[in-house]
Amino acid sequence: MATKAKVRYVCSECGGVQMKWMGKCPDCDEWNTLEEVVVQPPAAGTPNSGGLVGAPEPLSLPSIPAEPGRRLVLGNGELNRVLGGGIVPGSGILVGGDPGIGKSTLLLQMAADVAGQGGKVLYVSAEESAYQIGRRAARLGITDERLYILADTILEQILERIGQMKPALVIVDSIQAIHSSANSSAAGTVSQVRDCTAHLLRLIKQENIPLFLVGHVTKEGTLAGPRVLEHMVDAVLQLEGERFHAYRLLRSIKNRYGSTNEVGVFEMSEEGMTEVANPSELFLAERLPNASGSAIAVPMEGSRPLLVEVQALASATAFSQPRRTGNGVDFNRLLLVTAVLSKRVGLNLSTQDLFVNVIGGMKIGEPAADMAIAAAIASSYRNVPVAADMAILGEVGLSGELRSVGHLPRRLLEAAKLGFKRAIVPRNALRRKGDEFPKEIEVIGVRTLVEALDAALVK
Ligand code: TYD
Ligand code: MG
Repeated sequence: MATKAKVRYVCSECGGVQMKWMGKCPDCDEWNTLEEVVVQPPAAGTPNSGGLVGAPEPLSLPSIPAEPGRRLVLGNGELNRVLGGGIVPGSGILVGGDPGIGKSTLLLQMAADVAGQGGKVLYVSAEESAYQIGRRAARLGITDERLYILADTILEQILERIGQMKPALVIVDSIQAIHSSANSSAAGTVSQVRDCTAHLLRLIKQENIPLFLVGHVTKEGTLAGPRVLEHMVDAVLQLEGERFHAYRLLRSIKNRYGSTNEVGVFEMSEEGMTEVANPSELFLAERLPNASGSAIAVPMEGSRPLLVEVQALASATAFSQPRRTGNGVDFNRLLLVTAVLSKRVGLNLSTQDLFVNVIGGMKIGEPAADMAIAAAIASSYRNVPVAADMAILGEVGLSGELRSVGHLPRRLLEAAKLGFKRAIVPRNALRRKGDEFPKEIEVIGVRTLVEALDAALVK
């Protein structure tokens, strides 16, 4: 019996499949996200025809190797860190980020890195011409002849080239710009992006070639195309940064072959994306040590602590409702810290506009920076600087008490490395068994925010 092609509707937000078109996706409640997809019936006689010829064997657990295969270790330490120690053969990696943030630059440099180690690299450029890539490469001083640029947008042709060439690495820039001629929808639509990714992944898994896909980020900050794209690949990396700041953070959001939440720090310079080996130093470079309204927090970025400067400015308000502005801090935490400072410490902040800024465009998502934010605000309000050699760590509770934070020894070590002599930490954190603190830094345990400010602000 011949089965007919079926029409289904796929949501571009959640990837949910519906039998009929609806204005609102019943799975995720988003409007106008369903797109029509034609599902072809399987060709007769191929799959599941019985028998196990060519099918995978079940493996006894101890016989499975611990590593997924030999990783391709890059010359770039920050990239290795984010990838979990290098590129796993046969893995598919999605790289997202705003336009102009440096995705193509970073991947071209990575391509040159692999080519320099003797492997052939195929860089498929579906957005820029070979000439444009050539010019960028010339600017970056990349001349390796094992690096091949293919300016093409048709999936079937790209697959054919990969099959012929069998490179050591494939980069597709970007997945939204390529289309399969077997699919009638336009390039960049959910079904195209999904189909193209599926075909590419199937081929590279078969050939054991690693594949990097560039994906654009929508205004809302999610990767365009269906969320299912993130589920299909082995790792998702996100390149972030502010247009007006030179440095970029490469975050691992998902990694089947390594830890997530790893962060690599790069600087966009004349020579492209250069790795920043000591990011804390970069973030503190322009600090004025004895200015009021500045405090040093030590948030964890992935497995690595970073020192960042939090600045605050309290200035008399001209409005009945004082303003609160936060840059790089969680706004609700800023309001919480402000309320605790008013109620438990007794600062009259209702007469003050407050501006809080994390230097360098960094974003702190951790409550462990609460106490540093509080110290910066109190310091500006009282116009007294925080001691220049002091780092401040701790979460602020609603009663004005301080709560301990994780990874304290590692954070203190980073502060000590950058020459900080003292650190204020919640007293409870000092009692944790097994924690060993670095000797080069004096650790001051405090119980409340009042005590913390007393210790932090210069008399
Ligand atoms: P690009 O890699 O094209 O970004 P994406 O692929 O994410 O859209 O980088 C674009 C910006 O980077 C562009 O504004 C120019 C800048 N740039 C440098 O500052 N230095 C360099 O060496 C290169 C190649 C680009
Ligand atoms: Mg690009």
